[in-house]
Amino acid sequence: MTVRVLVTGGAGFIGSHTVDLLLERGHAVRILDNLQPRVHPRGVPAWVPKEAEFIRGDVANRADLAPALRGVDYVVHLAAYQDYLPDFSTFIHTNAESTALLFELIVADRLPVRKIVFASSQSVAGEGLYRCPAHGLLTPPPRPVEQLRRGDWELHCPYCGQTMTHAVIPETVASPGTTYGISKYAIELLADRLGRRYGIPTSCMRYTYVQGTRNSFYNAYSGIARIFALRLLHGLPPVCFEDGQQLRDYVNVKDVAWANVLAMEDERANFGIFNVGGKRPVTVLEFARIMVAEFGSDLEPLVPGEFRLGDTRHTISDVSRLEALGWQAAIPVEQNVHEYVEWMRQQQTTDEFLHEADRVMREQGVVQWVEKG
Ligand SMILES: NC(=O)c1ccc[n+]([C@@H]2O[C@H](COP(=O)([O-])OP(=O)(O)OC[C@H]3O[C@@H](n4cnc5c(N)ncnc54)[C@H](O)[C@@H]3O)[C@@H](O)[C@H]2O)c1
Repeated sequence: MTVRVLVTGGAGFIGSHTVDLLLERGHAVRILDNLQPRVHPRGVPAWVPKEAEFIRGDVANRADLAPALRGVDYVVHLAAYQDYLPDFSTFIHTNAESTALLFELIVADRLPVRKIVFASSQSVAGEGLYRCPAHGLLTPPPRPVEQLRRGDWELHCPYCGQTMTHAVIPETVASPGTTYGISKYAIELLADRLGRRYGIPTSCMRYTYVQGTRNSFYNAYSGIARIFALRLLHGLPPVCFEDGQQLRDYVNVKDVAWANVLAMEDERANFGIFNVGGKRPVTVLEFARIMVAEFGSDLEPLVPGEFRLGDTRHTISDVSRLEALGWQAAIPVEQNVHEYVEWMRQQQTTDEFLHEADRVMREQGVVQWVEKG
């Protein structure tokens, strides 16, 4: 049966792949996207399909969201503000306020929306889950900046100071360390409490580090694949923050789109929070080497002892809850890198994008370095 789905942020990276999959499955799609200039400096991207209805508008603006909601059966709410910069109120306004507005409009007009799928993030879990030899499992607060300035990267027990070992992170962990993470945690709480109170099923998807084609290389937040690939494209080695031994589980955007659509269609996902991650732990240095190999380069990644405020140390999500619904991380990290680099080579890139994001993060004190001596 054809259903009508509103995808907010549908012109973006995860949104556009989700739109493609929904169309493939015979659903009718409407996109609401304000084409945020930092993500889309050249206007509507070519991948926005003709078969989808496109509305340019802001999810946090009542006058834009209300008409976009009319006549839809499902909402996949992906539009968000994401960055490392200290514009704290924008995270809350765009991410959390738009979620509250969504419920407000549905409840006020008794709209027959059958379910809302929300983009959450692994950042809700903050530093994640660690085991202290003496005090057991703990969810530690972010590492103090003074510790990072000493080049001491690992997590220490807040009670006895011993170095702790990381554990995979289940959905029960919620200890966000950034304003972005807090805005996503607010989404999860609103989705659960308002959803249950008004009988509107919801699912919140906690993505880890998503990779693949269409990940805006204009935006600093687009992350590690963007910056490593841009540098290699310009003949420069990748630069790893901290000591390069941080663990991540990178997930392909097509697997993420699959997770979104599965959560939308499967009633077993109602009122659930789901980690969506790549399962396989990969260090940042290993990732840099995979990228170097993809470029056929012999450059050695650099580890100059810089760090970024707000970064976490080892974050591997437990995806067993989503696997129980039949999902799996099907695409390996080497394939993520291959797809991304192939796609990037087809785009117009300029030096300006390579250095600009890095310059802004340094200027605003987001990137710092180990104090020598
Ligand atoms: N990419 C990741 O690794 C990752 C990880 C965890 C969570 N997420 C979440 O997934 C969602 C999608 O992220 P993405 O990586 O595709 O980002 P993206 O920037 O490529 O896409 C976001 C889209 O939302 C649009 N947008 C931004 N603010 C808007 C607003 N106020 N009104 C309407 N549209 C707006 C942008 O123009 C863009 O097209 C976001 O909620 C993000 O927080 C992404």
